[in-house]
Amino acid sequence: MGGVVTLPGDKSISHRYAMLGAIAEGTTTLANYSTGADCQSTLACMAALGAKVERREGSVVIEGSKLKEPSAQLDAGNSGSTIRMLSGILAAQPFTTTIGGDESLSRRPMQRIMMPLSQMGAAIEARDGKFPPLTIRGRQLQGIDYTLPVASAQVKSCVLLAGLFAEGDTIVREPVRTRDHTEIALREFGADIEIERRVITLRHGAHLTGRELVVPGDLSSAAFFLVAALLLPEANLLIHGVGLNPTRSALLDFLVSMGAAIKILDVQQTGGELIGDLRVRASKISGGVIEGALTAALIDEIPALAVLGAASEHGLTVRDASELRVKETDRIATLEENFRRMGIAIETNREGFHIPGRQKFHAAEIDSQGDHRIAMAFAIAALAADVPCVIQGSECAAVSFPEFFSTLRQITS
Ligand code: S3P
Repeated sequence: MGGVVTLPGDKSISHRYAMLGAIAEGTTTLANYSTGADCQSTLACMAALGAKVERREGSVVIEGSKLKEPSAQLDAGNSGSTIRMLSGILAAQPFTTTIGGDESLSRRPMQRIMMPLSQMGAAIEARDGKFPPLTIRGRQLQGIDYTLPVASAQVKSCVLLAGLFAEGDTIVREPVRTRDHTEIALREFGADIEIERRVITLRHGAHLTGRELVVPGDLSSAAFFLVAALLLPEANLLIHGVGLNPTRSALLDFLVSMGAAIKILDVQQTGGELIGDLRVRASKISGGVIEGALTAALIDEIPALAVLGAASEHGLTVRDASELRVKETDRIATLEENFRRMGIAIETNREGFHIPGRQKFHAAEIDSQGDHRIAMAFAIAALAADVPCVIQGSECAAVSFPEFFSTLRQITS
C-alpha cells in the first residue's frame, strides 16, 4: 500500500459552514465541502429554507438570507448532526418546520436537544416524545446557562446556534471538551464568542457575514487509511490536507502512543482550523485503553481503532462509551456481530468492550447494517488480513465518504 490520499472535506465542519453561510448576510464560498451524503442533506435543508445554494468550480456557494417556511418536511437523511444542530436554528424562526430522516435517524435520541431548547422557550414535538420527526414551532428564544449532561458537540452546537437568535447571552458548559468547530466557525462568521476552558459564552445580537473558507480534509475519514497503513506490511502513505484541530487530533496522539509511525508535515491555519499532511508507515502496534475524556475525543474513530486493536500486540479496551450505543447503529453491537463473523474474540458490556490482541481475521460476510463507519472499518479488516469478505450494504460509505472504495483500490493496486 502506498501513494497519496486526498480526503473529502471534514463532515463536522462542512455542516457548520453550510448552516452559518445560509443565515449570514452575503455570500459564503466553501472550497472542499464534504462530498458525503450527510452534508448534502444539510445543503438541501438550507436550500429548502430559502438559502440559494450553487456549485461553482468545485466550491459550494451559499447566498445567505432570512430563512422562510419550507413547503415540505425537511429531510436530514442519515445525519444526526443535521437534525440536532439545525433544530437550534429552526426553534428561533417565525414559522413551523417538521424535520425527519431515514430509519436509522428515526431511532436516535432527540431529548438531548429538546431539553435545552425548551428551556430557551422552544416548542418542539417528537415521535413518542423523543424520536424524529420533530415538529418545531419557532418562537422568540431566551439565552440560557446550560451544563451539558452528555459530552456532545451536536448538543453544544444546537444551543449555540439557537443562542444566535436569543434575547440575552448564551452560556454552555461542557463536562469534557468536545470538538469546537462551531465556536471557531461562529467567530469566523463574526459572532462575539468567548471560550474559557470548558465554558463558552456567546454574546447576543450577533451579526454574521458570509465568508470564503476552505474545509480541511476529514480526520475521521483519514482514520481508516491510517489503520490500513499501520497494519499492511511495508505500507507508506501520505494523507494530504487533513484537519488537525486539537479537539480532534487525539487520534494521532493515541496512535503514536501505541507505536504508530506517523509524522505531521506542513501545518497551516485556515479559517481558524489547523490543516496539515500526514505521513504514515506500517508499524508494530502495542494496544491500549480508551476511557474518560479520550473516549469522547475518539468517538467516531472507535470502529477503525477496534480493527487495529484486534491485530495489535496487547489488544484494545474501550470504556465510558455508552454513546456508541446511539450512533448510526448501536456500534458496540455491530462491532461485536461482525467481529464474531470474522472469528475475532470480543467481550462487550453496556458501555464498552475489550478485544484481545494478536488475532487473525477470517473470511466472512459482513453486515454493515447501513452504518458507514462499520462498512469502512471492516473493509480495512478484510484488507489487512488479506481475506476475501463481502460487505453487505457497503454503499453506505457514501454517507461520509463516497470515494472510499475507489481511493482504497487506488492505493492498494
Ligand atoms: C459530531 C459530533 C459527534 C460525532 C458526530 C459528529 C459533530 O456526535 O459522533 O459524528 O459534528 O458535532 P455527538 O455530538 O452526538 O457526540
